[in-house]
Amino acid sequence: MKKLNVGVVGCGYWGPNLIRNFRALGDCKLKVICDLDEKRLQHLKNLYPEVEATTNYKHMLENCGLDAVVIATAVRTHHPLAKAALMAGKHVFVEKPLAASVAESQEMNALAREKGLVLMVGHTFLYSAPVRKIKEIVDRGDIGEIRYINARRLNLGLYQKDINVTWDLAPHDISIVQYILDDLPLTVNCQGTAHVTPGIEDVTTLCLNFKKERTAIIQSSWLDPRKVREMTIVGSKRMIVYDDVAPLEKIRIYDARVETPPRYDTFAEFQYAYHYGDMYVPYVKQEEPLKIECQHFIDCINHNRTPLTSGEKGMELVRVLEAASTSLKRGGAPVEFNPQATTRTVVPTANLAIQIKTPAPANGNGNGHANGNGNGNGNGAGHRKNGRGTAIRAAAR
Ligand SMILES: NC(=O)c1ccc[n+]([C@@H]2O[C@H](COP(=O)([O-])OP(=O)(O)OC[C@H]3O[C@@H](n4cnc5c(N)ncnc54)[C@H](O)[C@@H]3O)[C@@H](O)[C@H]2O)c1
Repeated sequence: MKKLNVGVVGCGYWGPNLIRNFRALGDCKLKVICDLDEKRLQHLKNLYPEVEATTNYKHMLENCGLDAVVIATAVRTHHPLAKAALMAGKHVFVEKPLAASVAESQEMNALAREKGLVLMVGHTFLYSAPVRKIKEIVDRGDIGEIRYINARRLNLGLYQKDINVTWDLAPHDISIVQYILDDLPLTVNCQGTAHVTPGIEDVTTLCLNFKKERTAIIQSSWLDPRKVREMTIVGSKRMIVYDDVAPLEKIRIYDARVETPPRYDTFAEFQYAYHYGDMYVPYVKQEEPLKIECQHFIDCINHNRTPLTSGEKGMELVRVLEAASTSLKRGGAPVEFNPQATTRTVVPTANLAIQIKTPAPANGNGNGHANGNGNGNGNGAGHRKNGRGTAIRAAAR
């Protein structure tokens, strides 16, 4: 099979991880890298002298014989860069979140469909071994019915100028939650505060409410002294604690639950409703998620498959983010989430009832399905300084 020619645009914090991985894959050739910043470009060129480097994205699209383009630039640029690449007939991989709005996401998906091209979004954690293991455990029914999920993704920085912390960090947790539950929320509410940059919330709590009274609470912060990447999945039979920062035992399964006793007369009897059992740590084979994600993109192109993290999945997530932004503006009021709707209604709280118009969805739908695994490992500002372009393992924020 012919090797696919790949170009990467964006050589900032995250791009170098994609560059390193695509360069290492056997069935594609990293032909060109692109960044407006000449210093960044030169740094990467020094690392990979055989790869062409350009500051001109148009040149990269038109003159380099590319089959696919990988976009690792700021969120507001995802749509124009992806649109140009799709128009030029290239398969596209876009970093998370897919775009800055549902309207942009719809246009990108419609274009990919019309042109018969793969559009994939970088929801990296769905390619991580611990997340895949958790999904396996949940799907086997080992923890019973999921009651709620609590996720915390906290660190100091990296402050973004044009998106708040929900748009920056929560995509990872939203994608994991929706993957594990295999469902979309009914309502979304989000509260937060901008402590440092006016208008850009740096600490937020997002609540996704699913059917059967299931909830997911996602805390995101750029204003915490410790790096925390933790998720607790509470089932009716057992509970899972996933700590992505832990070097070895990332998943712990607790044989713990609370059962309402059929009847009780005394407080002492009521205590029997609590069950404390063993804790065990399942084996998880460590592999770099980003490598699996990059390979998956190439496989989907070669075998005409829909990515696990397709453009449509990317749009679903952007829809959640938009609903979160609406809720934030309304002081945390719940926003109804209807994936098919052209209009979302803010659920009335007290005498608040607002209709929010969103553009009509484009016709048709995203892509197919496939497989993958693995994620990187988060980190804070320190890593950014040290790791630019030279990181050994990808560090998902
Ligand atoms: N999957 C993950 O775990 C993960 C982790 C971190 C960041 N990201 C995502 O990666 C993307 C990039 O984030 P970052 O932190 O690397 O940003 P960054 O600001 O560090 O880097 C972006 C780079 O893009 C370049 N750029 C911008 N517009 C350009 C254009 N038109 N042509 C050429 N170059 C251009 C900039 O000069 C900059 O060097 C974001 O979407 C972010 O959400 C994903």
